[in-house]
Amino acid sequence: MGHKVPILTASVLALLITSSLVLTSGVLTSGVGAAGVGAAGDSFKDKAAAITAEITGMRSVRASKLHPASNVVSSITVESFKQTCGPVAKRVMEISKEQSVKIRHAALKYRNPKNAATPEEAAMMEMFDFDRSVTGKLDRIELEGTVYRRYSAPIFVEPACLKCHGDKDARPGFVLKKYPLDRAWGFGVGDIRGIISVLSPL
Ligand code: HEC
Repeated sequence: MGHKVPILTASVLALLITSSLVLTSGVLTSGVGAAGVGAAGDSFKDKAAAITAEITGMRSVRASKLHPASNVVSSITVESFKQTCGPVAKRVMEISKEQSVKIRHAALKYRNPKNAATPEEAAMMEMFDFDRSVTGKLDRIELEGTVYRRYSAPIFVEPACLKCHGDKDARPGFVLKKYPLDRAWGFGVGDIRGIISVLSPL
C-alpha cells in the first residue's frame, strides 16, 4: 500500500478537530458564520453525501469495467476516457442542474488545471489522508461574496485508476497530448487522489 504519514501541520490539526466535532454533533463549529446548521444542514449533508458517493462510485465502476482482461495501458485511448470520466462529468452537470448545487473536484496532483486544489482544499486533503476514519466533512465557505454550505469527501486510488494515473511513462497517449501539464500520475492503490465537494448557497 505504501501509505505515507503526512506531516501534521497546524491547519490539518485544526481540520481534524473540526471534523470530529462536525461528524459527532452535526453542529458547525468553525468556518464562515460559525452558526449551528441544525436540521436543514443535516438534510444537506445527507443529500451531498449521496451525491459524492454516486459520482465516486460511478467512476470506480466504469474504470473497473475498462478492458477488464488486461491492464495494458497502450489499449487505453480517448475512447476509454469517454466510457469513464466522460459520463461522470456529464452526470456531475446533470446533478448540479437538477439539485441546484455546485460540484467540484480538487487535487494536489491534478490533471485538469481547473481542479488544482487551493491551499485550503490541500489542507483538507491532508486531513482526509491522515485520518481515514473521516468519510466526509461539512463546513461553510465564502466564494466571491456568496456563502455556501459545503460537504467534501475523499477519493482514493483503486487498481483500475492506475491505467490512467499510474507510472509517469505509462500514461496513455491521449493524456500526454491533452494535458501537457499533467501532474496526476505516480499514484499507488490506496493513495488519496483528491476530494469531491458539493456546495449549496446559503
Ligand atoms: C481512461 C483513463 C482514466 C481512468 C481509468 C481514470 N481516470 Fe481519472 N482522469 C482522467 C482524465 C483524462 C482526467 C482529467 C479530466 C478533466 O479534464 O477534467 C481525470 C481526472 C480525474 C480527477 C479530477 C481531478 C484532476 O486531476 O483533474 C479525479 C479525482 C480522478 N480523475 C480520479 C480517478 C479515480 C479515483 C480513478 C479510478 C477509480 C480514475 N480517475 C480513473 C483519466 C482517467
